[in-house]
Amino acid sequence: MFVRKKGNRFYLVENKRINGKVEQRVIKYLGVNPTDNGEYLPKFNVIYHSPVRESLQKLPDNSIDCIIADPPFFISRNRVFTRKEKDINRHFGKWDVGDAAEFFDGWLSDCFRVLKYNLFLFTKFELIQYFADKYPKHYKCTLTWHKTNPAPHFQKNTFISSCEPVLFFQKRSGLFNFLSVNDMHNFIETPSEQRKHIRFHPTQKHERVIEWLLKIGSNKNSLILDLFSGSGTTSRVARRLERNFIGLEDDITYVRKARKTIGL
Ligand SMILES: C[S@@+](CC[C@H](N)C(=O)[O-])C[C@H]1O[C@@H](n2cnc3c(N)ncnc32)[C@H](O)[C@@H]1O
Repeated sequence: MFVRKKGNRFYLVENKRINGKVEQRVIKYLGVNPTDNGEYLPKFNVIYHSPVRESLQKLPDNSIDCIIADPPFFISRNRVFTRKEKDINRHFGKWDVGDAAEFFDGWLSDCFRVLKYNLFLFTKFELIQYFADKYPKHYKCTLTWHKTNPAPHFQKNTFISSCEPVLFFQKRSGLFNFLSVNDMHNFIETPSEQRKHIRFHPTQKHERVIEWLLKIGSNKNSLILDLFSGSGTTSRVARRLERNFIGLEDDITYVRKARKTIGL
């Protein structure tokens, strides 16, 4: 038995003698993109309509250079505010409802198995300590994304939520681009994404934030895993910066729209 490449696909084949003639018979399709230890990764530069937990389980160890994960924050509320005859819904979708600890336990440790270098995890302030305590070997620091045009607070009885923390984890050193000193503050400020042709997701990240993380945490041709892809911000920026990506998102409407914005 041996491995045969056809185009960019790899097959396990054997030679079989049929009527005195030796013919090659395919035993198994192996995949594309072989890793150093003889395992296979799915096709790159695709946003897969697929649940994160199950898809992660199929990826080989130490195969991904950088992960950007933007999971649900479980902050949806069953409340609709009406302002200037416009309804403002605080319920983002049923994907944002559930038990946080149970949800994260289902996939985050697998991230560290498949990861080679850097993981950036968008989360909420209340969960920072939980993650830092759970993965102390890999946790490095917390970055802050400040949105200059956050959703307003109508009741005016507490602070406006204008910041999102991004946790930085590193499995091993060897890929970390220290940019200019001004770029290396643990803080970034942008408005929320406003460009109509790519804006369609309620919790969409601004491309500049993702660009900043990818420039620091990956190089040209690195393989990026875009977990909870949503509108495909990470995949779109990865493509622009000439990285390879694998996107995972389980809402088909978002998958279709995201693919369109990337030209897939
Ligand atoms: C916070 S949003 C991501 C937004 C994205 N970063 C962007 O810039 O557009 C989380 C996304 O995760 C998706 N999602 C929720 N649970 C999932 C799961 N188990 N597997 C894959 N995607 C999931 C939701 O449909 C939602 O689009």
